[in-house]
Amino acid sequence: MIAESPLIPPPESYRKDSYLRDEAEYRARYEASIADPAAFWSEIADELVWQHRGEPVITGQMPDFQFFPGSQLNVCENCVDRHVENPWTRNKVALFFESEDGHRETLTYLQLHQEVQKFANVLISLGLKKGDVVSVYMQNLIETYVVLLACLRLGIVYNTVFAGFSAEALRERIVSSGAKAVLCANASVRRGKILPLKETVDQALVGPHDVEHVVVLRHFPDVGTPMTPGRDLDYHDLMSHASPECPAVALDTNDPGLLIFTSGTSGKPKGIVHAGGGFLLGTYAFTKYQLDLSPEDVYWNTADIGWLTSHIFVLVGGLACGATTILYEGALDYPHPGRAYEVLERYRVNKLFSAPTAYRMMMKHGTELAQKYDLTHLQLLISVGEPLNPEAWQWMRRSLGKGDVVINNTWGQTETGGTPLASFPGATSMKPGSCGVPFFGHRLDIVDADGQAVADGNPGYLIIRNVFPTLARDIFGDRERYIRSYFTQLPGAYFTGDSAVRDADGHFWVLGRVDDVINVSGHRISTMEMESSLIDHGAVVEAAVVGRPDELKGMVPVAFVTVDKSYVASPELAAELKAKITLDIGSFARPERIHFVTAMPKTRSGKIIRRMLREIIQDGAVRGDITGLEDSDILDKLVTDVGESSSS
Ligand code: PRX
Repeated sequence: MIAESPLIPPPESYRKDSYLRDEAEYRARYEASIADPAAFWSEIADELVWQHRGEPVITGQMPDFQFFPGSQLNVCENCVDRHVENPWTRNKVALFFESEDGHRETLTYLQLHQEVQKFANVLISLGLKKGDVVSVYMQNLIETYVVLLACLRLGIVYNTVFAGFSAEALRERIVSSGAKAVLCANASVRRGKILPLKETVDQALVGPHDVEHVVVLRHFPDVGTPMTPGRDLDYHDLMSHASPECPAVALDTNDPGLLIFTSGTSGKPKGIVHAGGGFLLGTYAFTKYQLDLSPEDVYWNTADIGWLTSHIFVLVGGLACGATTILYEGALDYPHPGRAYEVLERYRVNKLFSAPTAYRMMMKHGTELAQKYDLTHLQLLISVGEPLNPEAWQWMRRSLGKGDVVINNTWGQTETGGTPLASFPGATSMKPGSCGVPFFGHRLDIVDADGQAVADGNPGYLIIRNVFPTLARDIFGDRERYIRSYFTQLPGAYFTGDSAVRDADGHFWVLGRVDDVINVSGHRISTMEMESSLIDHGAVVEAAVVGRPDELKGMVPVAFVTVDKSYVASPELAAELKAKITLDIGSFARPERIHFVTAMPKTRSGKIIRRMLREIIQDGAVRGDITGLEDSDILDKLVTDVGESSSS
């Protein structure tokens, strides 16, 4: 696949309006940015508004580094105030909101400015201040943006929790971050079903915690919303009394700005801490050069605010670039498969950012459907989160737009706070399936287990050798885990946990994780987290979860369990275990199948060999090396067990 992939230059129609128009220019600027990263980041900093800007630009090395230490800027001021001061963008639409049920709202930059200042005053009235943590349990809504920007204005560290997470998962995040307040919507909608978010918050707050207030947005006024007197407050009530003026607080570039939990290689999710100012600096640069985003664009990023992609490319990067953005609530193909096309047509979207799963869903609904809508204004399709297979790539190019749309498959992680690999869409050629080339100021390499660079064309560990402003600064409350997770494998470099290949043209191909994390529809799930949930059930003695490749979702989780003798391995038990994972983590982590097995394949030291389980579900047999297996007699039985429990 890698060897055969053609180099496709960007079309002239796109190139002419791009920030970077030439491959040689990319190479020259890339080399210069690596030779002198401080000069590159200073150039980016020149385009932002600072409250105080001094030297130095970069200090320290991984894991203790800083960008513009002692210099001060405010993220919200750069994302909102700056565009209000500019007469061209002042009354331009910042956010279009549309829900799957057809409800629509619009907010200009000026209106956004007023709402954000009001909510910042609400936060102050609740006694919240710089450095405090708040949990945000809301879907993609205009008010969600207001709330988050207000936090950024005051230096209150926000933690968005995906509104599909269960009460248990929400509780874990609220408690472990020491959140002082929860900001939530009363409900959300998906596929016509109303999901009661406030009730989930109430369940999450049973037991000890530090939360003093819950601010509730009655997004669905007709949905009954239980309120706890003294603790719960109504968003609109608070806003109706709030003053519309609240100055932006001066914050050190390295002060924590946001906290987002992601799956790691152990059962406990990691609270990734990003520096506010550093995040702005980097995400502005990524969004400008990888999306060519400007105030002229109408742009739709379908990511949920619970995932960092929204913060990188919409909330911070997108607004810093002054774009008009669409926020969508609900399912992209509900109430009919053409729903996403309807939105693209209505707003004449020219840049669409989504996940491979969503693009593959569009492909499944067929070209004919896409052609019923006017999608001629589409110029750029961006993707992140999982491999974008060449078949989907070709379909997107052919069927969405005029046949010359530019496709940018970007690679990034919650920890990298941006996408160190992507195309420069007007300059570098595309290759269906590849993740493009390194971003300015990012030195990526592919190495073997000893840290030696591998030759082009060979797979190895993907690492980043130098510091960059959006690199995670900590794991909340666990510095030791932060260092151990990312900086001990190859001292002096950031270890991504991904394997990759660089081809002869300098394009990178990300092959997948080298750890126990799987990507389901772009949602990152720790198989160990799922295993802990299963083992916690009285019937389960041992559990192993592996990913099975799936055409639509990329990967789906499949579980293997051995059952205690006092229980019967039945379809009812399988349903119970699936329900337990849904409850502990969320429905997106629900295993496709639970296989009851008599024994697990193990090494002599007792470790479950998950590779063999993967081979059995993919090929029906273990094909690879079995010399490490403690008891090879179990294999036949295992294959039979899997066959028999395939209906569970
Ligand atoms: O394995 C890589 C995969 O997704 C992981 C990161 O997931 P998450 O932190 O949820 O991503 C947030 C995105 C800002 C990576 O370690 N991944 C991401 N992009 C790609 C990818 N795998 C292949 N191709 C990609 N384009």
